[in-house]
Amino acid sequence: MIQSLPLPWLDRAGRPSRLKLAAFVLVVAPAVYLAAAYALNALGPKPITALIHGTGEWTIRFLLASLAVTPLRRVANWPKLIVLRRMLGVTAAAYALAHLALYVVDQNLDLAKVVSEIALRFYLTIGFVALLGLVALGLTSTDAAIRRMGQGWNHLHKLVYAIGILGLLHYFLQSKIDVSDPVFWTGLFVLLMGWRLMQRVRLPMRPWSLLLLAVGSGLLTAGLEAAWYGFKSGIPADLVLGANLDFSDVIRPAWWVLAVGLLLPVVNLVRGQAGTRRAEAVRPDRPRRVAPAE
Ligand code: HEM
Repeated sequence: MIQSLPLPWLDRAGRPSRLKLAAFVLVVAPAVYLAAAYALNALGPKPITALIHGTGEWTIRFLLASLAVTPLRRVANWPKLIVLRRMLGVTAAAYALAHLALYVVDQNLDLAKVVSEIALRFYLTIGFVALLGLVALGLTSTDAAIRRMGQGWNHLHKLVYAIGILGLLHYFLQSKIDVSDPVFWTGLFVLLMGWRLMQRVRLPMRPWSLLLLAVGSGLLTAGLEAAWYGFKSGIPADLVLGANLDFSDVIRPAWWVLAVGLLLPVVNLVRGQAGTRRAEAVRPDRPRRVAPAE
């Protein structure tokens, strides 16, 4: 029956959802772009390498986007956003699988070589573990699996945090010298985890607490960048930290993380206040429950 097909732009009742359709177009767009660029020979001298990088970057982006759904729906008082979480998570798994497939192609389909490289190179080993985790979460994202697994589903899907850390570490380790991009995405991960920590310690969600979260995440990002360069290349921390105050060249990732973080108090001020207060008044000590996948 056509209604029972799990088309990604339909809601749970089988009706077309504009939000899901828009998200579907957005998740497919990078794949279409990369495929078109490949077909048009626009990816430079090493097109497969460029595709490996492109799919790897989009895996991280969609993984973080899926982690941003819960904070955003609360900060912006937009509960409907939950319908995007499963799509974003499954998309991250799909891009990761394409990333691995491209790596296999890059190794001339020599599976023995692929296996030995994954076993021998630490950054590939952790990428592989992250990929296995993503696939496991993707496969258990169906309504039937969620029903069958009950609380176990919640526990399993907490793995997404560890997968995020492994994916980001893989990103750092494969970078040659400049780690600005992995630092930026890790800073956003810190921001999203910081929001969850705020919830856990029951810090009230208000513009002032979200402002603190943004500033704290920016500072941690700067610290992380300095720590990485210090650890990898022995560059003194004060030099790397000082680069954050030099605006003559590139703007350091910590500022970008701060900029993204500052959107949270603004959005909460504009959209979230009434909803936040209402939710806190009605359910002051609401116990955690199994989150539906949509
Ligand atoms: C079996 C699993 C995986 C393999 C074999 C693999 C392999 C690779 C390779 C060969 C590169 C390029 C390294 C270079 O050019 O020196 C790379 C880059 C990357 N991978 Fe993976 N990867 C795997 C899983 C993952 C997963 C699960 C994620 C995300 C969660 C991920 C994210 C990335 C990112 C972000 C980059 C860097 C892209 C860039 O710098 O433009 N990879 N990976």
